[in-house]
Amino acid sequence: MNIIYNEENRAFFLETSNYSYVMFVDKADSLRHLYYGKKIDHRNSDFSTYQMATDLSFAPYPENFGCLESLSINPREFSAFGSGDYRVNACRIAKENGTEVTSCHYKSYEIFDGKKEIKGLPSSFADTQKCRTLAITLEDRFSGVEIILYYTVFVDSDVIARSVKVVNSSNQTVQIKNLMSLQLDFFHSNFDMVYHCGIWANERHVNRVGIKQGIQGFKNSRGSSGHQHNPSFVLASPSATENCGDVYGAMLLYSGSYSVEIEVSELSETRALIGINPELFSWELKSGDEFHTPEALLIYSEKGFTDFSQKSHNFLMEHVIRSPWKHKKRPLLINNWEATYFKFNDEKICDLAKEAADLGIEMLVLDDGWFGHRNDDKTSLGDWFVDTTKIKNFKAMVQKINSFGLKFGLWFEPEMISVDSELYKNHPDWVLCVPNYPRSLGRTQLVLDMGRKEVVDYLFDSMSLMIAENNIEYIKWDMNRNLTEIFSSKLPANRQGEVAHRYVLGVYELHERLLTRFPNLLIEGCSGGGGRFDAGMLYYVPQIWCSDDSDAYERIAIQLGTSLFYPASTMGAHISACPNHQTRRSVSFEFRGAVALGGTFGYELDITKCSDEEKAEIRNQVAMYHKFNDLVREGNFYRMNENFGEESINSYAYVAKDKSEALVILTQKINVPCNKQQIQFVRVPDIDDDALYEVNGEYTLYGSTLKNLGISSERTLFGHATFGMYHVVKVDK
Ligand code: DGJ
Repeated sequence: MNIIYNEENRAFFLETSNYSYVMFVDKADSLRHLYYGKKIDHRNSDFSTYQMATDLSFAPYPENFGCLESLSINPREFSAFGSGDYRVNACRIAKENGTEVTSCHYKSYEIFDGKKEIKGLPSSFADTQKCRTLAITLEDRFSGVEIILYYTVFVDSDVIARSVKVVNSSNQTVQIKNLMSLQLDFFHSNFDMVYHCGIWANERHVNRVGIKQGIQGFKNSRGSSGHQHNPSFVLASPSATENCGDVYGAMLLYSGSYSVEIEVSELSETRALIGINPELFSWELKSGDEFHTPEALLIYSEKGFTDFSQKSHNFLMEHVIRSPWKHKKRPLLINNWEATYFKFNDEKICDLAKEAADLGIEMLVLDDGWFGHRNDDKTSLGDWFVDTTKIKNFKAMVQKINSFGLKFGLWFEPEMISVDSELYKNHPDWVLCVPNYPRSLGRTQLVLDMGRKEVVDYLFDSMSLMIAENNIEYIKWDMNRNLTEIFSSKLPANRQGEVAHRYVLGVYELHERLLTRFPNLLIEGCSGGGGRFDAGMLYYVPQIWCSDDSDAYERIAIQLGTSLFYPASTMGAHISACPNHQTRRSVSFEFRGAVALGGTFGYELDITKCSDEEKAEIRNQVAMYHKFNDLVREGNFYRMNENFGEESINSYAYVAKDKSEALVILTQKINVPCNKQQIQFVRVPDIDDDALYEVNGEYTLYGSTLKNLGISSERTLFGHATFGMYHVVKVDK
């Protein structure tokens, strides 16, 4: 890990043993991006030779610099609006005279050990000796406003953490209209854009398209990261596969509206931007004030998608997720949602708990419907006190469940309010809405203005009371609609552009306060399934309910797609009833178990109605969870087929970091008669060539055989939704 500045050519080098990231200041004081990729040793060159033609027509160049260096050409490090860089740009600041023309001229730099926190926002962390930061200060020469670019490199990772701070060192009030967290330019456009696409109950499928001249990308204005896309993107060489090729990616530590723009210019140069969606954003900065963007993580692998994903997984586990639970086996839970929906009482919940305890399950989670007078999804959000018609004595119920040996968890949807609620009667003005303008509902509910301190205080007090009084050890934090009519009665007209971002800051603050009060609380994120699955959330919660689609068949692509950036330990995955409630599909109990093993693992069905055979299977699965969860959670993850689970046959593997064991799971969704793929040799990736491994406790083979020839799986793949599991364990020779 190294950060070097070379005075001679005004160049900056960020390096680890695997990559180099190079930028330099050109004659016109513009910070030029030169290179990001496989390590190069190239510190003393004259970088001015690296450029596209500068005498292009219609390419404006700066007056008084004695060069034709047009901002519209060549990779730039952080582009600003209005001075001839006609590509999408990263920064636009409005001044008092009405201009939004912004300049980003190089001013100075600083290098220091460690990394600074970003106040109020999630950010990656590491010991001071384990990372170094470069801060480059740019200046808007019209106003004197400073734009500071932060780059942190880490000893144990190929990730670069980036963020941007604007400091209003001018004596006027300015408005930030656009401030991206990260810009990444390339001289060429030989890339595919790879990104998540989906919808409610079908999130994070992986899409791959070639990029072309023009702007491509996606924007989110929902106030939350959403089911449709993810605040992340990948640019991969068109020939990149799971095992080879250049893969560059970025993800935002942010849970609100964001934008991803990839532009290919007329010279076939590429620019990628990720940050807060400027369409929903502006921020007033008085003289002396500062604003810091969410952090973005930049990841590079020269070895294809699997290696890229492993880098992302490891970084999230070590430098983003803070929960004390992240490296621990989570209590094996049963959630009552698909078992009862809103129809339950304390007796039913205790019956479920008793049966669960008998089967070896470790925690009962009471989902939606325990509060106010909520018998459907039309009422009571905001009234975080017990519905005593359903649960006569909540504390006694939890004590009873605890007495069975089970922990207890509870569902909340903190950010929402029902019109039919006590909270709304008392505080109708706490709702996000535009005065005298029609409001939009989603699932019959409205959204609280989380940017208001009194709202966060109320939620903190009411949730803390429930948690503290009832020995609640886990909460499921849901969010079942997106934001509309984003307006706060607390802010003046010229600051309404701050409301959406202040909402996210309020959500983060509530998390922070709850976790400070209850440091061991296990929080599972959720937003109608995986509608807010992002690295920002993972700073607060170690796991997120991956999708409301609990059909194991569908879950394969959802979970493999999610694994592009996010590790198995973050994916909430449960075994639910068949026919499945979302798809009406029936697949075997065993198949459902094999798929749920690839996430946090749990149950979501009425186990009191299970047959004896099913109960016996649950006992097997509980044992399977205990046997494999450490490996799934802590091992390196390998996707062994291309296309992120969209094909019928998929195999994927978890390999212990010390290569002492591996688990390969092979799944087949549909059966085709005489399908030649039915005879598959399942290869075991990345184990020791010369060591002997025992396969499923039955026979032994050398690592090199398992890696290259594989295990014969002929008997496994016959039929609809079938699977094979291969556990190989190193044995002493
Ligand atoms: C959406 C969640 O994803 C479900 O698991 C469940 O908690 C419901 N909300 C409850 O309303």
